[in-house]
Amino acid sequence: MTYQKNITPLTHEIESPEIDPYFYADSHILNVLDNFHTISKKHPVNILVAGRQGCGKSSIVRQFAAVHNKPLATFQVGILSEPGQLFGEYTLEDGETKYKQFLFPQALQTPNCVIHLEEINRPENPKALNMLFSILSDDRQVWMDELGLLEVAPGVIFFATLNEGDDFVGTELLDPALRDRFYVILMDHLPNEVEKEVLIKKTQVTDEQANAIIDAVNTLRGDFELAVEVSTRTVLMIGEMVAAGATLKGALITSLQTSKETLESILLALHVKNGYLEKGNHEYRLF
Ligand SMILES: Nc1ncnc2c1ncn2[C@@H]1O[C@H](COP(=O)(O)OP(=O)(O)OP(=O)(O)O)[C@@H](O)[C@H]1O
Ligand SMILES: [Mg+2]
Repeated sequence: MTYQKNITPLTHEIESPEIDPYFYADSHILNVLDNFHTISKKHPVNILVAGRQGCGKSSIVRQFAAVHNKPLATFQVGILSEPGQLFGEYTLEDGETKYKQFLFPQALQTPNCVIHLEEINRPENPKALNMLFSILSDDRQVWMDELGLLEVAPGVIFFATLNEGDDFVGTELLDPALRDRFYVILMDHLPNEVEKEVLIKKTQVTDEQANAIIDAVNTLRGDFELAVEVSTRTVLMIGEMVAAGATLKGALITSLQTSKETLESILLALHVKNGYLEKGNHEYRLF
């Protein structure tokens, strides 16, 4: 087996992440995650987590690994442009061509590893997913000239996350053959009282500040004309700004990524409705 001589293996300890003490999820979702965990003891499982931006998809994968004390390895599929790119690359060392193995083959062969494939619907080149097909199918193995036969270790769980933006909703953009291999979990916004709890616990805003933030966020989410997405991530960003001393207006302006016009309508809508946004008087001072 000549191929083994010129391989630089990457040996990196794949660790279990820390538990997020304030992560909340729908009990139905938690129940099916328990079911998947049970199934994973028999054979590897594939789970697709879909939902809007910033609603906790990556975090639920991380929390799953943390709670079960499983190693977690995350890979950005969105940047892949060719098959094999996750596995390794040829490099030139001392005038010699060597194959450098990446983390992915190691993760595949690590028992009980949680393997997170981010943005699986957005590879730069759809062919980049080719080698994943056989790994995600019942074969659970792939042959590579460079690395030989790679077999998925017992207990491995694959999570793939999909970003649903304004431009598309659902999983229809994912190749049907690939989609067919996954269980699906759909995530949504947290209910207000839970989001408020997360906001207070994670950013240390006061109860009153949290109410003002959640009120503003509800107004924005309910106003279809404004069409702004406010994710839990954005809510936490607003909370951090407010906790750091910013006004709600300042926090909104810096956290909502939208056009100046929309921002003006937003501020107007919030001002009219709640009246708690102070009028800004702009003055310049030395930095
Ligand atoms: N249910 C939740 N409980 C506690 N915190 C949450 C929850 N959902 C999201 N968050 C927090 O919101 C932030 C964004 O979450 P995360 O990165 O998991 O979202 P995402 O859905 O993966 O986003 P993207 O679509 O951009 O990949 C994180 O800081 C996370 O801790
Ligand atoms: Mg994510």
